[in-house]
Amino acid sequence: MSLAGRQVLLGVGGGIAAYKAAELVRELSKAGAEVRVVMTAAAQKFITPLTLQTLSHHPVGVDTFDLQQESTISHIDLADRSELFVVAPATADLVARLALGMANDLLTTVALACRAPLVLAPSMNVNMWQHPATQVHIQTLRGRGVRMIGPDAGDLACGWVGAGRMAEPSEIAAGCATVLGETQTVTQDWAGLSVLVTAGSTREAIDPVRFIGNRSTGKMGFAIAKAAAARGAKVVLISGPSELATPAGVERINIESAVEMRDAVMSRADVQSAIFKAAAVADHRPAQVALQKIKKQGAASSLELQANPDILAELGVRKFGRVRPVLVGFAAETTDVERHAREKLARKHCDLIVANDVSEAGSGFGTDTNRVMLVSEGGVDRLPLLSKDEVAHRLLDRVRSLVKSA
Ligand code: PMT
Repeated sequence: MSLAGRQVLLGVGGGIAAYKAAELVRELSKAGAEVRVVMTAAAQKFITPLTLQTLSHHPVGVDTFDLQQESTISHIDLADRSELFVVAPATADLVARLALGMANDLLTTVALACRAPLVLAPSMNVNMWQHPATQVHIQTLRGRGVRMIGPDAGDLACGWVGAGRMAEPSEIAAGCATVLGETQTVTQDWAGLSVLVTAGSTREAIDPVRFIGNRSTGKMGFAIAKAAAARGAKVVLISGPSELATPAGVERINIESAVEMRDAVMSRADVQSAIFKAAAVADHRPAQVALQKIKKQGAASSLELQANPDILAELGVRKFGRVRPVLVGFAAETTDVERHAREKLARKHCDLIVANDVSEAGSGFGTDTNRVMLVSEGGVDRLPLLSKDEVAHRLLDRVRSLVKSA
């Protein structure tokens, strides 16, 4: 494990495992990292700043308003210079404050300002760890790409037995090295390839103020676009209305209706190496769109609908000018997920279906995480609950192996 020359910031929370922070500083330094430390007020009840200052050879930050330190190293400097921020122990209180984006002490202020990857080593009583509030915060943080190391299960300092013990310093240091290794080299395995991604919902107008829509936010599709661009692909993102920012390096085409999405997709389909259809497209649209707002009085009690084009099915039978792109459909299901996914794979002639159970907590619409299964003719690959960013990378790994050169 080498962390030679890497700038690591260690945040120490106020739990009994804080005494292990001394060993963690040593492990990180031994691996070559330059370690700086910030501590919460509670952490100082368990271990002194002097101990960590002596081991890290740098002043330890304890107070956002410490003017003496502000003259040399401000909280923004600490955030900016760090390549990785590891919080160990991450107590239940710290986990909650980090999830909520609070900045009410030096450690959380630095975390909010810091753009480096955040790694947490949770440590708390088993009941605090299992509490739904803590678990929601952990999911929120995971969804933002925060890495968790531990907690381990075993005898806890409080006398309980169960999950909640902080991972060993050597394990935390190794985890930091892994995360830094990943950020250093984002593989460019999609360089020279073109990718089309659809994302978000479509809106099918009823009149000038009303529409038929759905709950898709675009998060899944945007994550694929972002990951593909980061890995070197030329990416066009065709998106329904979404609040999300366009990922760096991605060309975005905004559409509203399924018909508009169809036209945009078909106009760009021929030059793609892979097409990811993550958008939730309305199957039907109103047969008539009223030119004026429909008044409550005299409004019909039913709406006549007509079928929308099935964009994925059309791509499945399209004659492509050159090599056929790898076609990846999504399936949003609430029951019999695998069976429905298989049916869509065959009917829409795709290479792969990414199926998600949208009734499962943490999966599907609007969440930062997703649990998907990748269904192909060859079988089913079930992925665990992951952040949508991680799902995107796992999907790109799989699809990259299916892309044929022109
Ligand atoms: O955007 P998020 O909030 O992150 O939510 C992500 C998601 C739940 C929307 C996403 O993970 C997902 O499941 N997308 C597909 C939703 C969907 O419409 O599934 P479907 O089973 O109805 O459609 C199957 C496939 O056919 C999809 O690839 C869809 O894009 C495509 N389709 C559907 C209808 C249609 N008229 N044209 C299509 O191309």
